[in-house]
Amino acid sequence: MTPLLDEAEQLSREELAVLQLERMRATLRHAYDHVGFYRKAFDAAGLRPEDCRSLADLARFPFTAKADLRDNYPFGMFAVDRSEVRRIHASSGTTGLPTVVGYTQRDLDTWADVVARSIRAAGGRPGDTVHVAYGYGLFTGGLGAHYGAERLGCTVVPASGGMTARQVRLIQDFRPEIIMVTPSYMLTLLDEFERQGVDPRTTSLRVGIFGAEPWTEEMRREIEERFAIDAVDIYGLSEVMGPGVASECVEAKGGPHIWEDHFYPEIVDPGTGEVLPDGERGELVLTSLTKEAMPVIRYRTRDLTRLLPGTARVFRRMEKITGRCDDLLIVRGVNLFPTQIEEIVLRTPGVAPHFQLRLTREGRLDSLTVRAEAGPGASPAVRAEAARAITSAVKDGIGVSVSVEVVDPGTLDRSEGKSSRVVDLRAV
Ligand code: DLL
Repeated sequence: MTPLLDEAEQLSREELAVLQLERMRATLRHAYDHVGFYRKAFDAAGLRPEDCRSLADLARFPFTAKADLRDNYPFGMFAVDRSEVRRIHASSGTTGLPTVVGYTQRDLDTWADVVARSIRAAGGRPGDTVHVAYGYGLFTGGLGAHYGAERLGCTVVPASGGMTARQVRLIQDFRPEIIMVTPSYMLTLLDEFERQGVDPRTTSLRVGIFGAEPWTEEMRREIEERFAIDAVDIYGLSEVMGPGVASECVEAKGGPHIWEDHFYPEIVDPGTGEVLPDGERGELVLTSLTKEAMPVIRYRTRDLTRLLPGTARVFRRMEKITGRCDDLLIVRGVNLFPTQIEEIVLRTPGVAPHFQLRLTREGRLDSLTVRAEAGPGASPAVRAEAARAITSAVKDGIGVSVSVEVVDPGTLDRSEGKSSRVVDLRAV
């Protein structure tokens, strides 16, 4: 399939760099002039916006963290008059105050454009029907996907999350080509198709655009096989925009292309903050290049990845995210990410792709129990073998001893949006 590229996607690397520098300097100036937080931070660092003379100069400017947004709750990071703000979103925030973000009409247009570009890169075309099962509301997933799909010229089914039986019915009746949903909720839908006796491989769906949580190549294969679709990765975060900061192209499925005409990426050492060269793993830091209502300068995403060269497009890619600083579990001195367990569970015969991690403390030692669900009809012997296989794969692959319980099908909670795989009982 020949990719259809918009104007910015056809720039050369050199032309892109010129555009980025111009936009970066304008963004620094806008932030400095209109947001007290940035003015103070730049002044404290002895920097003026015009000190950014090359893209590399950005590294001299201070970082912005989630805590800075909370400290300026609710609207202190806005750079435009309140009358210019057309939309507010907020992330729930597991502790304390939510982080609030705002958009001008132009920001909403940019967002729709980058999501439309993302859907096109995934193989979507005008005239396709898109079933949006990301949650609608303060979460950016639903409305972000919605306006992007409309911008591309698609028909949108704004299903939102939940009411799983109805979702399956809508997919059967409205025959969408594309679904946009979290990968974990896609697995919940898979169960429901099977419960209703419908073969998920026979639906009208051609492409799934999955994001809002980490998911592995094993999960991609599982979803692609079980639904007979292409599964591509869309990345984003509310502080920077929402879904559509980066997205994968269906031709390569080689990690999301960062839409670098609007978002400038850096990778830093999460400990020291030092900028790392392309190809090295670290924390993704993003600077908005065109945002009006809430520009963000060097925002620490806490997502771990590395930058890779473009493929079919000029924009650099980020490696599929499999870990966030916040998800790191340290069990008996060994670091592990839940996605490493996902890879193992999905490779193991006899268990379903549903699992949960339980952390407990015995004396002064942390213990990790992996609870995986038995596959349909798995005999006691098959379950026991699966438990043994997972235990030894975790020991050999990650280097930590865990207990494994294979529980009855349907026992573990199902995701309706972002999954929460870890149950931490240590403080209880
Ligand atoms: O999750 C925006 C979004 C909605 C992205 C729908 C894609 C699809 P937040 O709720 O602010 O925004 O959460 C952002 O989710 O920092 C990552 O840790 C994680 N995340 C988002 N997309 C991916 C992805 C939305 N494709 C946080 N892979 C981010 C891995 C992801 N993690």
